[in-house]
Amino acid sequence: MAEKEFGAIQTADPEMKRVLKLAENVAASRATVLIHGESGTGKELLARFIHAKSQRAGRRLVAVNCAAVPDGLLESELFGFEKGAFTGAASSKPGKFEMASESTFLLDEISEMPLLLQAKLLRVIQEGEVERLGARQPVKVNVRLVATTNRDLAQMVRAGQFREDLYYRLNVLPLRVPPLARRPRDIELLARFFLEVSSGANGRRVNGLSGEAMSKLLAWSWPGNVRELENVIERSVLLAEGETIRDDEVLISGFPGSAWGRPEAGEEDGFPRLSIAPGMTLGEAERRLILETLEYTRQNRTRAAKLLGISIRTLRNKLHEYNGTGNLASAEAE
Ligand SMILES: Nc1ncnc2c1ncn2[C@@H]1O[C@H](COP(=O)(O)OP(=O)(O)O)[C@@H](O)[C@H]1O
Ligand SMILES: [Mg+2]
Repeated sequence: MAEKEFGAIQTADPEMKRVLKLAENVAASRATVLIHGESGTGKELLARFIHAKSQRAGRRLVAVNCAAVPDGLLESELFGFEKGAFTGAASSKPGKFEMASESTFLLDEISEMPLLLQAKLLRVIQEGEVERLGARQPVKVNVRLVATTNRDLAQMVRAGQFREDLYYRLNVLPLRVPPLARRPRDIELLARFFLEVSSGANGRRVNGLSGEAMSKLLAWSWPGNVRELENVIERSVLLAEGETIRDDEVLISGFPGSAWGRPEAGEEDGFPRLSIAPGMTLGEAERRLILETLEYTRQNRTRAAKLLGISIRTLRNKLHEYNGTGNLASAEAE
């Protein structure tokens, strides 16, 4: 059941398979796992896989993304607080650590944890108990910790930005997820996988990629890794005119130029260039993007809304606003 909560890890890459095997082997133990890898490589998915393969799978994995929680809130988010612990603490609240007891606690992007909290975290790990802010008594917790990082923690230790003792505590079982560019078989497999998922989800009959389109995918450096590929494929599915995606329907931001670098200003990458600059209102920038996207989809509002990530209704309202007229005559949907 717990395994159904997240998608299965798709891979055809030998190194990735080895990592999965390792992950499966360590899943059963209570040992802390540290997952290294670039952003978007599938670290969180791997963490959930470990949880699903562990004896704790019956319980819900609890996750905190250290980069997503503002610094000032991270401490109470992790450790919880008692009523009256600080202004605004009207009632007491358990921290995520406590909530993860008997289960797995995923500390995502642990490199972003401030040094002071690192010290506190180390104590929790060593003593197996947490103290809510303002509490007199610590509570015992039984947590299996999985942490992820897209930064080089050893390097951060040398630079004095990460506690060495905590690093060794975390790095008991290091797993390294290779970047997508070093997994060519996965580029092919995942492209086909996301194509199937995306065409199903968007109700579009797209069932393959042309040879040129696949070559383009294989030539790219994928700085955003699997997450980027997922987005590129979804965009292609939305733009595809036929059942097979052509290479000109594969839009990759930054492609080509040098395949390993960023594009120069004004360089052609398949995207129309938008003129947006500081001094412009958000509203104006939004208006330009919306109109440019419509241009791109040849006024197909259904596709434009999907690309923009808004509902067709919102899109219609915006256009209504821009026109001031309520001219809704142009192509509505398919
Ligand atoms: N091997 C894979 N098979 C299927 N989906 C994957 C795979 N790797 C990553 N993904 C998907 O790519 C996206 C990014 O993965 P995620 O685990 O959040 O990466 P990270 O935590 O390293 O940034 C998610 O939508 C995830 O489901
Ligand atoms: Mg992540």
